[in-house]
Amino acid sequence: MPNTLCALDDFTLQTSSHLSQQTRSGRVYSACKQVVVMALQLPSMILEAMKAEAALDQDFESEALESHSPPSLVDLTPSPSPEVGGPLPFATSSFDDDKAPLSSSKKRKRPSGRHLSRHIRAMRREDYYDTHGHQPGPKKLKKLVEKVEVEDAVIELKELPSTMGGYEAKREDEWEDKVYTLEEVKGFGLDVYQWDGRRPVAFVAPNKQIFMVLAGRPDDPQYDAATERVYEAITRDARPIQFGSKYLLHRRGDYPTLDAGVSRGQGLPRPVSLDCRPHEDFVAGLFANPDLQRMAAYASSAFATWAPRTYNYYKRHLDKLFTRMPHLPRIFPKCIFPAMSTNISKAQTVRHRDLKNCPFGWCAVQSLGRFDPKQGGHLVVWEIGLAIEFPPGSTILLPSATLSHSNTKIAENEERTSLTYYCHGGLFQWVDYDFQTEQDLRTNNPMLFEKIWRDRPKRWALGLSLFSTMEELRSGSFDTFDA
Ligand SMILES: [Fe+2]
Repeated sequence: MPNTLCALDDFTLQTSSHLSQQTRSGRVYSACKQVVVMALQLPSMILEAMKAEAALDQDFESEALESHSPPSLVDLTPSPSPEVGGPLPFATSSFDDDKAPLSSSKKRKRPSGRHLSRHIRAMRREDYYDTHGHQPGPKKLKKLVEKVEVEDAVIELKELPSTMGGYEAKREDEWEDKVYTLEEVKGFGLDVYQWDGRRPVAFVAPNKQIFMVLAGRPDDPQYDAATERVYEAITRDARPIQFGSKYLLHRRGDYPTLDAGVSRGQGLPRPVSLDCRPHEDFVAGLFANPDLQRMAAYASSAFATWAPRTYNYYKRHLDKLFTRMPHLPRIFPKCIFPAMSTNISKAQTVRHRDLKNCPFGWCAVQSLGRFDPKQGGHLVVWEIGLAIEFPPGSTILLPSATLSHSNTKIAENEERTSLTYYCHGGLFQWVDYDFQTEQDLRTNNPMLFEKIWRDRPKRWALGLSLFSTMEELRSGSFDTFDA
């Protein structure tokens, strides 16, 4: 977690001239110093943008316009619609791309060089994404479900350490502040889980719910190349930076880490945009990188694929948040997660849990670098007793607030970078509390306050019930069930 956060007003003043961008649908994107760069390097940037757009659309969501309508969204907001679940079909009626009316946002200017029909399709895709988020197409979902490996894990999900309100995890453990070698981890009795970083693996609890997924990566060599370029870009851009104590002193390990996006951690009264000064140029470079945009979109779409109800819970809440607070930036064009940590050079973590993240939510972790994944850089998930090989370029989704995790040590001459996409549970709480603190809610809306307080003991189980089962993924139909 960052030590210093800028107030919203400060951020607005700092960025109002050139950093924030807002689409007509109300979405705001951050880190837009690249606008200045675009003015100077227009042709190459257009080419890159076109390539990136095509890549973003091909990983998961491109089927969305072809064959199905969106699932109904799940809302855990206590008021006014407290019902949870209900059928969540992937395909109930057709969505006709050709006949779909263009929204007002379709009047956006066509970039130079883009064919009109391609421009219209791109705009429709963008509007579809704005409304529905990532929705795996039935064909791609079927293919994934056919090839996924299912691992049964001995874990009681409801016993994981969530707070009663279900907005963050309990702080109840202290572990040694040490990065263990693979041999040391094995010495604790943990098993090594061999993984090629490609095949999807779903970890399933005894109650049949999928609680963690080794998502892998898209089956596309261009994606591998994109992850390589992201690693090279981060390494190159970070090399001249002298990271101060704000970025070096954190409880997850001994390496620079830089958080960006929207947060409500560390007891903050309201959501804020994280202050990246004095490294805002580095961050702007990250968010403008089309390869990283593709990786972020993949992380998000994998989340939507394996935990569609949980994803929809994120979307419903975060859409409300960004609509109500449009000055807050979205970090990537197609990524549900509102914040990202960039962990640089020798990213190997000590055992920890990310307490402020939504306890029943997932974060996505992507591994990058030059290291031997057979020897180090494993993702150790202590509660299930596994050290999972985590090759560069691959993605893992897990509930990082409630499962303790770490990395095994890499060799002296090796480097590992990782990207972690996450969402603080406090953002969901802010929305549920009608965009105010608990104290203000108690004063301003006692009835809602009473209801939320009364329902608190149920909320953790309610959140867990959003996880999917393999049966649901196979059938493409999602019913409410109790955890
Ligand atoms: Fe973590």
